[in-house]
Amino acid sequence: MRGTWALSSSALVAVTIVACATAGGEITPGTERFDAALPPTPESSCPIEEGSGDKWSDIYRDLLGPTGKPGSCSLVKTCHGSAEESGAKASNFFVCGTSKDDCRQKLIDTNLINEDDKAAPEKAGLVTVLRTRNPDKTFKGIMPKEPKDCFFTPTSLNRITTWIKNGFPND
Ligand code: HEM
Repeated sequence: MRGTWALSSSALVAVTIVACATAGGEITPGTERFDAALPPTPESSCPIEEGSGDKWSDIYRDLLGPTGKPGSCSLVKTCHGSAEESGAKASNFFVCGTSKDDCRQKLIDTNLINEDDKAAPEKAGLVTVLRTRNPDKTFKGIMPKEPKDCFFTPTSLNRITTWIKNGFPND
């Protein structure tokens, strides 16, 4: 038994040397065989920017409402499309489904926007929870939960902060 182990380990060393030896006989380190899926780099992220206008009907139509696109708060059935969904349950029942009026009212009921925010809309709960990108391309904010590499661009965020500064009317 010991004899065979000695044989197999020397065989192993031989194989390794062969694997590393290039045609010229120099020993070069083997290329990495293990290729774990690298996390997506910021470059691969997706900017959320659709349409224009800073009225609530524009913002709901293009960004937060049921657009079926990244940025929607009801993209899949684990979000905020109805009170039964896990996102809604975990956010004090912030629901933003098929009713534009109800979505706006829920933003108010869950204190994601309030009167004080008019003076400093960038500090509103809604604005701070949305994923945006820092100048160094890292992210801040956690929503939309999916897709993880999508972020609201400064243009999209400006529409939302302007709407809040204007007193977040149901316009
Ligand atoms: C872009 C519009 C969205 C807004 C404004 C929003 C808002 C929020 C808020 C305020 C919370 C509570 C965060 C906290 O307690 O710190 C939350 C949690 C959560 N949301 Fe959203 N959300 C959005 C999109 C989404 C989407 C698209 C999904 C599903 C893919 C989702 C799924 C969840 C889940 C599962 C939680 C529970 C906490 C967690 O697992 O991270 N949300 N959301």
